[in-house]
Amino acid sequence: MSVWLVYALLFSLIGQTEQDGHPVPIEEVKMYTEETYCASSDCGAWVLKVTWRDKFAENNESEKVSYDIEVLHTQQMKTVHFETIHVMPNKTSYYHWRWTSPIPLQCTSHSVRLRRHNELNIGEWTPLYTHKGQDLNAATTTVYPHDQVFAVGSNITFCCIVETDKRPLSEFLIRISNRTYITKPVPFEEPSTPNIHCDVEGNPSGSTIFIGYPPDDQNLTCITRNLTSLECIWEKGRNTYLTLNRKTTYTLDGRVCEYRKCVIHELKKQVTNWTLIAKNPLGVKTLTDTADPTHRVLLRAPSKISHDAYARNVTLRWSWNEESYALFPMICQVKLNGNIYNKTFNGMGLTSAVLINLQPFATYTAQVQCGSYEHFYEWGDWSEITEFSTKEDIPEAVDVWIHYSEQTTSVLWKPLTQQQSHGIITGYEISIGKIKKDLKTQLCYNITSGNEKSDRIITVSAKNSAGPSPPSTIIIPSYPDSEVDISRINGKNGGFEMSWEEYPYSTCGYVVEWFPTYKKTQCAVAWEKIPKCDSGACNTWNRSGIFEEGVRYTVSVYACTDDSPKLLKRSEGYAIEKQPGKVVNLKGENKGRNVELSWDEVPLEQQNGFIQHYEVIILLSGSETIFDPVTTEEPKVNLKLDPGSYTFRVRACTSEGGGDYATHKMNVEKSSDQIIAATVVGCSAATLIFIIISVLCYRKRKWLKKLLYPDIPEPKLAGKWITKGFYCTQMTEGYMKCEIQEVHSLEHPAISGSLRVLDLISSNPKVVPAQHFYQNISESPADVSYCPVQKLTSIIENPSYNMTIPEPVGVAQISDLTLEMQDSYLPAPNFVQNNFVVKGSDCYKPQSASATNA
Ligand SMILES: *[C@@H]1O[C@H](CO)[C@@H](O)[C@H](O)[C@H]1NC(C)=O
Ligand SMILES: *[C@@H]1O[C@H](CO)[C@@H](O)[C@H](O)[C@H]1NC(C)=O
Ligand SMILES: *[C@@H]1O[C@H](CO)[C@@H](O)[C@H](O)[C@H]1NC(C)=O
Ligand SMILES: *[C@@H]1O[C@H](CO)[C@@H](O)[C@H](O)[C@H]1NC(C)=O
Ligand SMILES: *[C@@H]1O[C@H](CO)[C@@H](O)[C@H](O)[C@H]1NC(C)=O
Ligand SMILES: *[C@@H]1O[C@H](CO)[C@@H](O)[C@H](O)[C@H]1NC(C)=O
Ligand SMILES: *[C@@H]1O[C@H](CO)[C@@H](O)[C@H](O)[C@H]1NC(C)=O
Ligand SMILES: *[C@@H]1O[C@H](CO)[C@@H](O)[C@H](O)[C@H]1NC(C)=O
Ligand SMILES: *[C@@H]1O[C@H](CO)[C@@H](O)[C@H](O)[C@H]1NC(C)=O
Ligand SMILES: *[C@@H]1O[C@H](CO)[C@@H](O)[C@H](O)[C@H]1NC(C)=O
Ligand SMILES: *[C@@H]1O[C@H](CO)[C@@H](O)[C@H](O)[C@H]1NC(C)=O
Repeated sequence: MSVWLVYALLFSLIGQTEQDGHPVPIEEVKMYTEETYCASSDCGAWVLKVTWRDKFAENNESEKVSYDIEVLHTQQMKTVHFETIHVMPNKTSYYHWRWTSPIPLQCTSHSVRLRRHNELNIGEWTPLYTHKGQDLNAATTTVYPHDQVFAVGSNITFCCIVETDKRPLSEFLIRISNRTYITKPVPFEEPSTPNIHCDVEGNPSGSTIFIGYPPDDQNLTCITRNLTSLECIWEKGRNTYLTLNRKTTYTLDGRVCEYRKCVIHELKKQVTNWTLIAKNPLGVKTLTDTADPTHRVLLRAPSKISHDAYARNVTLRWSWNEESYALFPMICQVKLNGNIYNKTFNGMGLTSAVLINLQPFATYTAQVQCGSYEHFYEWGDWSEITEFSTKEDIPEAVDVWIHYSEQTTSVLWKPLTQQQSHGIITGYEISIGKIKKDLKTQLCYNITSGNEKSDRIITVSAKNSAGPSPPSTIIIPSYPDSEVDISRINGKNGGFEMSWEEYPYSTCGYVVEWFPTYKKTQCAVAWEKIPKCDSGACNTWNRSGIFEEGVRYTVSVYACTDDSPKLLKRSEGYAIEKQPGKVVNLKGENKGRNVELSWDEVPLEQQNGFIQHYEVIILLSGSETIFDPVTTEEPKVNLKLDPGSYTFRVRACTSEGGGDYATHKMNVEKSSDQIIAATVVGCSAATLIFIIISVLCYRKRKWLKKLLYPDIPEPKLAGKWITKGFYCTQMTEGYMKCEIQEVHSLEHPAISGSLRVLDLISSNPKVVPAQHFYQNISESPADVSYCPVQKLTSIIENPSYNMTIPEPVGVAQISDLTLEMQDSYLPAPNFVQNNFVVKGSDCYKPQSASATNA
């Protein structure tokens, strides 16, 4: 609040002392200072007001007049302001002028003089009128301004009045009088409470000022809470940073208020204006609000809220503390478990509400709030929270299914969820025909049904304290499943997708049932009911995320009918395959020169996926020889191998890769076929030669005799020729090496068309030669030739001979004789150019021959 202080006091009597006929018409000059708000007086005055009267202006109405006004610092006689003002003549001829000084007027004496001028001439200056500064009589060091409030962003010049002959030490550098020093303008950009010090030896002083903002209050709103009084509220807006006696004060329609506590104890039921004036030392803000108070009703909270709960509904009751609400039409809403209940309630002074469609046996919290029904303004305050529990109700019907397995028929049902139980389930009641049974927690019941239809109707109910659920009925077929083919289903994204033909007699949709095929227990059956629907895409089912990996599931689809369920489709498959277990019973058998390796398939529970093929790895002991792995789909394989000690490793492969290897060690020995063949060929050849020689010798016996030994009468054919054409050498370990010298030259085998080198006959038609070298001579694409990389022994074989002697002679019988033909070295092809598809788990899948060659 501004305070007017009258300071200067001056009388101009000078007008009378006329000088040269130029009288000064300005009289009654008065000077005032207008002090800004301050707790004590004399904090700092910034506004100088000057009033005067112009004698000439009286009754000189048409004249346009101007005045020059000059302000000086009295001691230094230094002009600090000069201004010319133009005025319209005033009948009363009184004028005022107002000037804001850049320094507090207390800092030093200020003098003012005026002169009048019109269009024709300039008048004389009045004498100086002086407003005295505090530097004339201050007893101690004094700083101006002090304890004053300024707006953020102000630039303030401080002055310090010191004792004569002393100088301030800091900041106050500009001398404006014998005892006064001022600072440069100091900017204050932030709200604060700064202290300014004037350090003078022996007598320092200082000042505190307050930097803040003018009021910024907003949004005046007047409401009524009890229909008899008005309460007005508003928002503070920006903080003023001013406290105590500098903080904002409020008046509402002339009544002094505290912030947000403005009550008007009268209520006119008509449109009313309310005006709030917010004021602080830096400014004033006026807020208004206009409304009909009856449209501004904000109801208080209902009190003493209580409840009356049943299984599915509750009645909430409350009361009102305000008498005036009794006849007030109101609308109320309820917050149930944190969500607004979708229905509202209304009535005169409403005190209850019924909530329906509640969940039985559940705990709820509720709260109520109300507003004006006729002129809704805003919801009133929330009541306290009331907590209640609904009572038990009969459970929902259970989901029943039947399952047949190995002559046993079981009825299964799913446990009810907490939502479906409507209480604590105390047991189940199953009725088969006329027989009733009570079960405690069991969810599966084996039945032996008769053939009467009434005996095949089974109902199941769950019970809680409120009673049994509606019965769920299922009818057992009079004859077992009409069998369907079991197809294979492939897992997809860790689950199964089933689709089926629509079944025209389905009345209630379909049921998809699934269980682990091998690890089945009678009650470990899951099912899902698919309700009947009209759109075409209902005959599909899709589930994932619930199946174990490596477990085979049987998934069946039944049609739900008025009678018993009808099996439509059954599939088996793995949702997620794993690597399989080991093959069992791996054994090898020497069949002639072939080795037949066979095994039993992986036990069903360990297959962990569909077995795609087997992989066989052949290792020759004590040799670096690398054979290509063999793959086969059958659980056996025929191999043609050189004699030696072999280790066979076999494993099964699913789509996820190969399992562990089963291992079998075995010696491969020369087969009797070869021995017999070699023996027969050798003996035949020897005999033939012997006969030829005999015949020749007989025919030419005379010539021979004549030529050689005419005296020798009888040649000894047998002994000599045998040892010459075909002779054998005893070798180590009972082996005998025989040589036929005149039969074939094996350097360039003439029988190469039928040459097979270490043939392997695989039963797998997809398996093809791994080396193109052999492919050319291989008659059937089903035959695979495998060669050791190093020394290769060629064995000549007569295919037709093989055919005529189907069963080889037991190896043991002739093992003491090995017929070794002359070794032949075949050009070694680049054997190890294997072409495999190596899948994640090292399961080999040879590619086709054409791909190899390409
Ligand atoms: C009107 O003003 C003139 C000067 O501008 C002055 O001479 C004259 O005396 C004034 N009249 C009266 C009645 O004061
Ligand atoms: C004229 O004089 C009266 C009386 O002093 C004053 O209230 C008014 O403001 C003056 N008019 C002007 C234009 O100065
Ligand atoms: C204060 O001074 C600064 C520069 O010194 C100027 O930009 C600003 O406008 C001044 N503020 C006021 C309120 O005069
Ligand atoms: C100011 O100081 C000067 C010289 O020191 C002195 O003559 C003069 O009287 C002083 N004025 C006042 C008003 O004290
Ligand atoms: C109405 O409420 C105001 C406060 O808002 C209170 O001062 C006044 O006494 C109340 N009047 C009645 C009749 O309860
Ligand atoms: C004032 O009301 C307006 C509109 O309702 C709102 O946007 C503004 O934030 C309110 N002001 C304050 C300080 O709450
Ligand atoms: C309220 O104030 C407005 C403007 O300030 C005015 O037009 C209106 O007549 C006033 N209403 C009442 C009831 O005073
Ligand atoms: C609330 O439930 C009870 C018992 O279930 C019933 O008797 C009553 O009629 C229900 N009330 C309403 C309003 O639905
Ligand atoms: C409220 O919700 C219930 C169930 O959520 C519904 O049956 C009822 O129609 C809804 N009522 C209204 C008024 O929306
Ligand atoms: C039902 O029978 C199967 C075998 O027939 C048996 O394994 C299972 O334990 C029986 N279940 C019940 C609940 O009796
Ligand atoms: C199966 O479910 C998956 C997601 O759960 C969905 O993306 C896919 O389209 C469904 N397939 C069918 C045939 O419903």
